[in-house]
Parts: sequence; structure tokens; C-alpha cells
Amino acid sequence: MANETKDYSRYFDFSDAKIISEDEHGKRIRIGGREIFIMSEPSYRREKQRGKEEIKVLYEEAVPEELRTFGKGKKYIIQTYGCQMNEHDTEVMKGLFEHMGFEWTDDRREADVILLNTCAVRENAEDKVFGELGNLKSLKLEKPELILGVCGCMSQEESVVGRILQKHAYVDLVFGTHNIHRLPILLRDAYFGKEMVVEVWSKEGDIIENLPKKREGMRAWVNIMYGCDKFCTYCIVPYTRGKERSRLPEDVIAEVRELARQGYREITLLGQNVNAYGKDFTDRDYRFADLMADLSKIDIPRIRFTTSHPRDFDDKLIEVLSRGGNLVEHIHLPVQSGSTEILKRMSRKYTRESYLELVRKIKAAIPGVVLTTDIIVGFPGETEEQFEETMSLVREVGFDSAYTFIYSPRAGTPAAEMEDNVPMEVKKERLIRLNDLVAELSKRSNEALRGRVVEVLVEGRSKSNPNVLSGRTRTNKLVHFEGPPEWIGSFVHVRVTDPQTWYIKAEPVRQETGAVS
Ligand code: 5AD
Ligand code: SF4
Repeated sequence: MANETKDYSRYFDFSDAKIISEDEHGKRIRIGGREIFIMSEPSYRREKQRGKEEIKVLYEEAVPEELRTFGKGKKYIIQTYGCQMNEHDTEVMKGLFEHMGFEWTDDRREADVILLNTCAVRENAEDKVFGELGNLKSLKLEKPELILGVCGCMSQEESVVGRILQKHAYVDLVFGTHNIHRLPILLRDAYFGKEMVVEVWSKEGDIIENLPKKREGMRAWVNIMYGCDKFCTYCIVPYTRGKERSRLPEDVIAEVRELARQGYREITLLGQNVNAYGKDFTDRDYRFADLMADLSKIDIPRIRFTTSHPRDFDDKLIEVLSRGGNLVEHIHLPVQSGSTEILKRMSRKYTRESYLELVRKIKAAIPGVVLTTDIIVGFPGETEEQFEETMSLVREVGFDSAYTFIYSPRAGTPAAEMEDNVPMEVKKERLIRLNDLVAELSKRSNEALRGRVVEVLVEGRSKSNPNVLSGRTRTNKLVHFEGPPEWIGSFVHVRVTDPQTWYIKAEPVRQETGAVS
């Protein structure tokens, strides 16, 4: 049975909770001796709703004048779980912390604030966070003034917030994905109040521009849209991230221009479903293909995007991508399953055949394109034949790599109500078979590059050998080669000498600092 082992709903039983006071700002409750100030809490029912209200774009100063020195002499840590969207949210929160005068530390014992930026997409991600909260309890007992916060996608789940209230009452602050910009105010409240502060908005807010971001390295993420309206039946994201909202093209373009000016080499455009970009605009007809065409004119060497949904991938976008230039020939195109029947029950809104047709068009238009994907095995009711259809699709497309997952039921999603009748041993065995196939295809495609010269953006030293540099090709393949550290941050041409399964060994042929071929 789905969820048999993890029914968090009982954690949301507030029968022993006492309401101390309640007004228009929120309610104060007491559970087991701990006072909690709930400004707002998550609700699956409200997160599911998609209203017609117009999304406003606000250009705000997120850190009020009086809080600009609040963090002076204080240190913070953010531990990030999950996808690139979360990584980028962490960059925004780092920006906010540092605008308040806080300093980053790697040492937990000297931290004044520790935030866990969490992921809800699979159960094992959640287990990790609850494990970590357990570990942090002793630190909090030793140093009661430490502010311990939970944010990100898990905070948007009512069952998780209930469990924190009941079982992890030493947490000081819980906030969600829609009110990150409120961090300075919430931190102040958590510092000065004795109670736990909970502010999770169920409904997405407006788009807030001008938030400070602290980026590192030579590659930068840029949000182009927030939320997802696809409601694939297994997925929690439409609940935790709200409805689709696109940033205005002028704001995205200005940000990318500024990053180019600052010397960034590569941009990754982020959205849960970037191909839906612009669908929510009421005052203009401007879509993802238009944005890519405009961004391709900016002087930044490489532009990537993630994640695309096959359903919204239109011909105009293929045409724009086929022009090349700074638009790289790598497309991450999650398929999830190769069986039309399973895709239907996942509510993916495309078939095996239409996916293969899209792949055919992309390959015809973009020579040398590298395709990668996401796949779920063991979706409720997946038969051996249906799994074999996934295997054959993977072979037919010839993905260069794939993120593969065992299906994990998420409370509140439609699939969690379906009978999860594939035994765990079978799911694991399917995952192994699939991973073996993906490894074989990856090795084969790397092998095809033997002797060829590729352009690499040098990102740093290899983790295992400091004499070796590591970087990525336009197609996002990892390359290792010997060279001086001065090359870090530049583009180097290398010849592939020894392709492996997950990376490529190469040797430099010539250096072109900052050049793109
Ligand atoms: N179980 C397993 N994998 C999931 N994903 C999303 N939801 C689930 C789930 N409930 C996977 C999908 C998605 C990727 C980010 O995570 O493959 O593309
Ligand atoms: Fe989840 Fe589907 Fe939206 Fe991707 S497109 S975030 S899998 S609901």
C-alpha cells in the first residue's frame, strides 16, 4: 500500500494544541510546552487551486534599512537539498543574509543561524532532512540562541509542518518557497520572539524582482519562471511551487546582460517547465522561443535551460535552437516512461510516439545534439512489458545520460491514491537494468568522440587529482585534462584521448582565452 509506512497525516493532529491568542496577524498556539506563532500555514487544498488573479511584478528593497546591520558579527549556514531551483533560491537567501551583514561559515559550531533548504520530490530527500534535524538537536541544546530554520519545498507540505511542530519543536523558523523575500523580517521575529515562527504561504505571491543574489564561479543560474501547472500525477512540485508565473522578458534580459558584463561564461535558464514561459502573459505574445532568440544576441558564450516538458516543445523553439551560436546543443527532455499507457496515468499529456517524433525533429534540426532525460521506474501498476517499453525507448533515442528514480509516493498527489503494486525488489531490479543500459549508451556516445577536438569551459581542478583540470563541453560532458590553473574560467580546445562512461579524458590542443568556437 502506498504510504503505509509513512503516514504523516497523524503528525498534523493538533488535538493537544492550545490556542493562546488569535488575531489578523496570525495565531499563537502551545504544543507540548512550545509556543508557536503561525502567521500562515500550508494547505494542500489551497495549493492545488489555480486562480485567475493577475501576478504583479514588484521591484522591492527586500532588506529594510533598519535590518542592514542586524547580522553584523553573526554567521550563517544554508544546507541545500534538491534541484537547481533550490540551489538558486539559496543564492538569493545568501544575498539577503549578506545584505543584513551576516557572514557565511562552514563550521556549524560557530553558526548563529542554520537553514535547511529542503526538497520534497522523493521520500528519501525528506528522510535526509528529518535525519539532519535530529542531528542538529544536540547543537541547539548546547547553544539555545542558535536559530534553526526549515525552508524550501518540504515547508510547503502541511504534513511536514505538522510533524515539525509536534516532533521537532526546537526548530525556530519555518517558511516556504513563496515568501523567501520575507527572510529578513522572519529572522528578526525568530530572534526576538521566544516562539517558533511559521510563515508558509499556500498561494504563490507576486514576482519579486531586485532581490540580491550571491553567485559563485563562472556559471550562473537565472530564473525565467516559477511554478508548474502540469500536475503530473506523481509530482508534488505544482503544490510546493504554485502556479506558473513568468518573469518579464525585459527583466530576464537585463539580468543576463548584467551577468555577461560581470564576466560570467555560462547561463542556465531555470524553470520547472521552461517551455511554458510566457503562456501566462496577458499583454503580449512572447514565448520561450522568443526569449531564446533575444538572449542569443547577448554576448555570453553559452546559454542552457532546464527543465523542458516535451508537450510544450514547439517547432519555433527547435528552429531557434538550431541556429546554434551561444545556444548549446544539449537538451534535457524528461520522458519519465516509454509506455503510452503509463504516460497517460502519469498525466504527461504526450505518447511514446509523439515523444519519439519530437526527438526525430530535434535531431534533424540540430546536428550533434545531446539528449538527456529523467525516468521513473515502478510507477503504480507498471508491468514488465511497460518497463521494457521504457528500455526500448531509451535505446531508440540513445540518451547520453539519464537521471533515474524509483517511484516514490507523495502524499496529496493523485498517484499516491493508486495501488502501488510493484514490489520493491522488482523496482530495484528494474532500476539496475535501466542504469546498466544508460551507462552502456553513455560509454558509447563518449567513445564516438575519441580523437575529436571539443571546446571545454574550464571550471576548476579535478577533485581526485589537483594537477588535472576539469570542465564541460557545450553538450555538458565532463572532461578531465592536464593544464595550468590559469586556464580556470577560460575556454580551451582539447582532443579526446580516453573516453570513460561518465567522463572523458583529453589533452589540450590550444588555448583561446574567452573565445567561443
Ligand atoms: N517519485 C520518483 N521520482 C519523481 N520525480 C518527480 N516526482 C517523483 C516521484 N514522486 C522525478 C521525475 C522528475 C525529477 C525531477 O524527479 O523524474 O523529472
Ligand atoms: Fe512535476 Fe510534471 Fe511539473 Fe515536472 S512538469 S514539475 S514532473 S508536475
